[in-house]
Amino acid sequence: MAAMQADLRPRLRAIIDGDLCFHDADSGYATHNFHAFPAKFPPQLPRAFIDALTRPGDRVLDPMAGSGTTLVEAYLAGCPAVGVDIDPLALLLCRVKTQPRDLESLRATGERIVQAARRALRTPAALAEAIRARYDEQSRAFF
Ligand SMILES: C[S@@+](CC[C@H](N)C(=O)[O-])C[C@H]1O[C@@H](n2cnc3c(N)ncnc32)[C@H](O)[C@@H]1O
Repeated sequence: MAAMQADLRPRLRAIIDGDLCFHDADSGYATHNFHAFPAKFPPQLPRAFIDALTRPGDRVLDPMAGSGTTLVEAYLAGCPAVGVDIDPLALLLCRVKTQPRDLESLRATGERIVQAARRALRTPAALAEAIRARYDEQSRAFF
């Protein structure tokens, strides 16, 4: 354990001393831009640490996982990951963003949503009825 930590220390030092500015980097790949979330890491940040400090198959823990940027990067690097967060929206986003999906079933679901939206938007009365049937009073007031 001590030997492993000694080995990790210079690698950690090298990342911290390196360039950790990712302003011009693309963060829109994989599921990273699926939904807005405050204080998201740029994906390149956790990836730098994962690449330098883990071997494929190592487990990555993010105890403040936010919307799952670190978890997605761990997944892409071949590391199983565990995330925890106090915010239920963060947990939902983490689950959705790290769930492997079949593209054909996603396409079919998207098509059903578009068809339902088209039906609901046929007339203002149909739209009002669809909203009334589907949402509670608080949601309708928000709309
Ligand atoms: C900067 S974001 C995390 C970004 C994330 N690690 C990523 O990969 O993008 C900070 C997160 O910490 C969470 N948080 C704050 N206090 C917490 C606590 N006591 N326990 C668990 N999560 C907490 C917040 O809900 C927020 O989602």
